[in-house]
Amino acid sequence: MDKNKNKNKNISSNITMDKIVSLAKRRGFIFPSSEIYDGFAGSYTYGPYGVELKNNIKNLWWKMFVQNRTDIIGLDGPILLNPKLWQVSGHTEGFNDAMVDCKKCKKRFRADHLVEEITGRDMEGDLEGMSMVIQEKQIKCPECGELDWTEVRNFNMMFTTKMNSIAEPVYLRPETAGAIFIEFKNILDSMRVKVPFGIAQIGKAFRNEIVTSNFIFRLREFEQMEIEYFIEPDSDWESIFMDWLEKQEKFAYNLGIAKEYIKRYEHPKEKLSHYSKKTIDVEYNFPFGFSELFGLANRTDFDLKSHMNASGKSLEYFDQVNNKKYIPHVIEPTFGLDRSILACLCSAYTEEKLEDGDSRVVLKFPKNLAPIKVAVFPLLKNKPELVQKAREIFGELNEYLMCEFDDNGNIGKRYRRQDEIGTPYCVTIDFDSLESDTVTARDRDTMKQERVKVAELTAYLKTNIGI
Ligand code: GAP
Repeated sequence: MDKNKNKNKNISSNITMDKIVSLAKRRGFIFPSSEIYDGFAGSYTYGPYGVELKNNIKNLWWKMFVQNRTDIIGLDGPILLNPKLWQVSGHTEGFNDAMVDCKKCKKRFRADHLVEEITGRDMEGDLEGMSMVIQEKQIKCPECGELDWTEVRNFNMMFTTKMNSIAEPVYLRPETAGAIFIEFKNILDSMRVKVPFGIAQIGKAFRNEIVTSNFIFRLREFEQMEIEYFIEPDSDWESIFMDWLEKQEKFAYNLGIAKEYIKRYEHPKEKLSHYSKKTIDVEYNFPFGFSELFGLANRTDFDLKSHMNASGKSLEYFDQVNNKKYIPHVIEPTFGLDRSILACLCSAYTEEKLEDGDSRVVLKFPKNLAPIKVAVFPLLKNKPELVQKAREIFGELNEYLMCEFDDNGNIGKRYRRQDEIGTPYCVTIDFDSLESDTVTARDRDTMKQERVKVAELTAYLKTNIGI
């Protein structure tokens, strides 16, 4: 049993992005991609533990919003879609960021970010105004220090690609939502859905961001988890909206985020996206400050109506009970998967000073989200009877839980390695195990050890991990 259990001091009050980025790389969560070719800006690879964490978060989301509900069904649409979709949805015309180029060093910047950093003013959308402020305030190039800018102009954020069979460019989808709207008719025709109901999708989205930033916070290729929730046009949309906001916050808490790290930000009317009547972001207090984690919008009937008009196909819903036809309105809760992973890592990151003077870094993930659930150790590597029993137990547990076998170094070092990747339980096979068919199970957070019968081990671990 660990004597230090309640006397350890959390000393991680100032978590920095550097610490998160370094741990993520060192311990196989997230690598900068293409490193052997000197990297590729803003692109990352999820390593072996990162992909487990990512899948666990996706599964949690799917369970909460699809499996556990009778009013939401899933979908998995393509990334390449008919380009008409993006004309009709307004993305080819209006999905823009403001950019400005430094004529000296040729670097490109988000004009609204430059202006906001210096003046604190959010001037998004006002191209002329931003050009004037840059000159008036003599805002210099952050890269080379010169004051020699182009005019501020719009830059469409969609990636284009070429399909051999058609002449016009094809887009990589900038949001997963589009595929949901254009399958609305197929869903009505094939499933017995009744409004209100939702369609959920998890998948990649692509945005040609002028600048990527803050590790996996702002990427060009990222994943979204989105729901389009269809409601009656006359329903009390405000209460449905607020209910969704609470559900989004609950999902954040299930990622291990503390309540005081979450706040709401309502977009002012003049800054709303072209499709939205009301938008509230759920923001998380990242090490670089409060920033958008999830979004919630009332998209009204903008998308279905536009697609119905452009395609000439009816996207109306027939309400048999009230014998009426209408185009449903849509409440859209949207969740960034990469931002969820970053928030989950930041919330879990803990540095502790132990009572014996030692210290440890531990990722205190919610146990059900940890990439590795159980590590199995033989006490000594050079005792074949311990190694054989440990291998047998590892084989049994691995059927039900993601496990790791480790016989390298002393037990203390093995514990620290598992703490750093957030493994909730370490199971050690010692000499008593051979006599009594029991093992020790050590809890990541309390560092307390308990003796558990091998016959009861799987159930013990599953119950304590919550799966
Ligand atoms: N369908 C609505 C929509 O796409 P959004 O606010 O533009 O709304 C939804 O994006 C979520 O996707 C955001 O809340 C954020 O978590 C994530 N996201 C947006 N742009 C991103 C980027 N460049 N990198 C990583 N995640 C991003």
